[in-house]
Amino acid sequence: MRAVIAVASGKGGVGKSTTAVNLAIGLAQRGLSVGLLDADIHGPSLPRMLGIAARRPEVRDKRLIPIVAHGIRAMSIGLLVEERTAMIWRGPMVMGALNQLMGEVEWGALDVLVLDMPPGTGDAQLTVAQKLALAGAVIVSTPQDIALLDARRGVAMFEKTRVPVLGIVENMSTFCCPHCGHETALFGHGGARAEAEALGVPFLGEVPLLLDIRTSADTGAPIMAAAPESAAGTAYARIAGRVASALAPHLR
Ligand SMILES: Nc1ncnc2c1ncn2[C@@H]1O[C@H](COP(=O)(O)OP(=O)(O)OP(=O)(O)O)[C@@H](O)[C@H]1O
Ligand SMILES: [Mg+2]
Repeated sequence: MRAVIAVASGKGGVGKSTTAVNLAIGLAQRGLSVGLLDADIHGPSLPRMLGIAARRPEVRDKRLIPIVAHGIRAMSIGLLVEERTAMIWRGPMVMGALNQLMGEVEWGALDVLVLDMPPGTGDAQLTVAQKLALAGAVIVSTPQDIALLDARRGVAMFEKTRVPVLGIVENMSTFCCPHCGHETALFGHGGARAEAEALGVPFLGEVPLLLDIRTSADTGAPIMAAAPESAAGTAYARIAGRVASALAPHLR
């Protein structure tokens, strides 16, 4: 495994999982061999977003074999236990599950492993950041101040653990009306770019708030796989390009 990167945010629901999925597929479309690990034990989203919720990973020589979908290899606690089971686990169980996912999966030869992180900056996040020797972190934020405050916390956490911040993605940047094409800055616009500048970290790009992104996530056919040429697809492709460039020293 050449580079492990985390997709994180201080705040919940800003689009980490959606970004992680489409970024991972975007990196694979660039010819890289990519794995995607769901580090969100309490709220695993990858099985549903990748359309693999009904699949069960094989176990070979006591190692879990990831599920291949949309050109990437994926693993999630949601593939191993009932949807509601992990939701009520306490700290030690969560850590145990995380350790199992980090240590007992047979990824094969990967260029990049993308981690979909749980929301927040607590113990689980720190454990992952420290244990996996991250090559970098991508911070996802919506444009409004309150989310940016949490994004700042995310950046600070990774800097404290000496993980390079690859940059900030502004998600739900503008809302594009599916009927008339008019763009509305629902949560404001440009806040994440300004915040990235203020923090001295790269700005990786904007992803508009699009109905297609939400429906494709819900139906298990991520937009990057279903419609790579769409507005959303090109936005993610640009972000994947920037992340790949930032990781180039690791991928040689
Ligand atoms: N750019 C976007 N356009 C439209 N819908 C989006 C976009 N990004 C995310 N969503 C939708 O917003 C919801 C939350 O996204 P997602 O699950 O990726 O957030 P998250 O940060 O991973 O949340 P959590 O903190 O719970 O893990 C999902 O329904 C997703 O489909
Ligand atoms: Mg998530």
